[in-house]
Amino acid sequence: MGKELIINVFILLFVGTSLPAQNAIVLNADLGNDTISRHIYGHFSEHLGRCIYGGFFVGEDNTKIPNVQGVRKDVLGALKELKIPNLRWPGGCFADTYHWKDGIGPKEDRATIVNTWWGGVTEDNSFGTHEFLNMCEMLDAEPYLSANVGSGTVQETADWVQYVNFDGVSPMADLRRENGREKPWKVKYWGVGNEAWGCGGNMTAEYYADVYRRYVTFMKSRGIYLIASGASSDDYQWTEVLMKNIPHRMLDGVALHHYSVIDWSAKSSATEFTEEQYFETMDRAWRMEELIQKHTTIMDQYDPEKRVDLIVDEWGGWYNVEPGTNPGFLYQQNTMRDAMIAGLTLNIFNNHADRVKMANLAQTINVLQAVILTDEEKMILTPTYHVMKMYNVHQDALLLPINIKTEQYQYGDKKLDAVSASASKDNMGRVHISLVNIDAHETKTVTVDLRSFAVNTVSGQILKSAKLQDHNTYSDPEMIVPTDFNGFKKMGNTLSVELPPFSVVVLECR
Ligand code: AHR
Repeated sequence: MGKELIINVFILLFVGTSLPAQNAIVLNADLGNDTISRHIYGHFSEHLGRCIYGGFFVGEDNTKIPNVQGVRKDVLGALKELKIPNLRWPGGCFADTYHWKDGIGPKEDRATIVNTWWGGVTEDNSFGTHEFLNMCEMLDAEPYLSANVGSGTVQETADWVQYVNFDGVSPMADLRRENGREKPWKVKYWGVGNEAWGCGGNMTAEYYADVYRRYVTFMKSRGIYLIASGASSDDYQWTEVLMKNIPHRMLDGVALHHYSVIDWSAKSSATEFTEEQYFETMDRAWRMEELIQKHTTIMDQYDPEKRVDLIVDEWGGWYNVEPGTNPGFLYQQNTMRDAMIAGLTLNIFNNHADRVKMANLAQTINVLQAVILTDEEKMILTPTYHVMKMYNVHQDALLLPINIKTEQYQYGDKKLDAVSASASKDNMGRVHISLVNIDAHETKTVTVDLRSFAVNTVSGQILKSAKLQDHNTYSDPEMIVPTDFNGFKKMGNTLSVELPPFSVVVLECR
């Protein structure tokens, strides 16, 4: 027996069992400074396709679809279960064409406009400020209003703030009362324009920073939180100019938009995609980590105290529309690939809880990476819905720092980290660990060392399916639902967890 062989046999016999696992997480349950803001789990509802009309709102006179003041009861129930913390409205690109006064008062008198960004359809403004803000109250979600900077006026936005927030006597507060609402809604979150570099006005960062300063000077209301229209993906210059040119006393958040799209001119089908397309989508989803790190580095330079937050108010997968549907409606199905995007991205947001304080998945219903799909009176919940619900245990919990070592998911000669994770401790002392394995073929065994945290009981849920392309349909609405997970072994304070290919697991340790 050669010397090398003897050494190898020795390692195998005596050291093998204590060799570090290939996928290993060390979880520091005794550390942690940052709370994971529940607003990271926010949503976005634009006047786009069937998101508002048919999705949220079917009209007060609809006798076929059960509703409360025109809002679908099934949708209200599903979103409350999800614990949606906030809802952004009315856009998106639509926001910079929206004149809020068109959407108040008696419905028969409301202006009819054309939705120039999305399908050129007629917008009758039957869903306006009152309908949206009352709906947020029903959902127990904070409204996040996007003001029209692109084609609106400073006065119009100042009036909107006064209309929804002012308690005393004023022309706008009186108008609100005339329209049936005595008490103001006290809207905290305000976006000042949307994608000002593009559909919001094609501005330069320098010009927008000036416009922003002018707008917020007149948005007077105590305690409001002002969000500047932010960069597209890796436009770091945009973030730098905003951080440099806007006094931080006028700025609470800087936005960022990033979609997991393979190629804007060659998008894939939502349901019929190859493994290569899946891999490329995962690559774009993982990019969120790099984007947040780099935008944060710039923000840290100008704001080391982290007073200004990073607000990822549009994110998600973007594919071709479903065949036969209006290309301007952005209606797409939602598969296990989307569950992977959601699990991965939410872990990234959680792990950056010190700077990322809000995020909004695009969009809630029937548009892009939706959590709900509807067809007349039918409604289904997507795999993305289930991931967001499994993860809601992290809302407002203490982020626990983790160290992670992961194997790679390899496709051809390209590689990505296969396992992603985040962990938090809630106010009952329970530790939740969310784990994602994006590998399309291999199960990943992950060792989780909880160090000094004395683990008594562990329970979990898993979202998985046979094929990446699997999705829920109206004829099979529960093809993909979370199930109880018992693919773990507990050895003292260490867990060995088996993550099947393309699965999401959330563990609860007490
Ligand atoms: O979410 C769809 C669109 O994507 C939004 O209207 C716009 O802000 C972004 O480009």
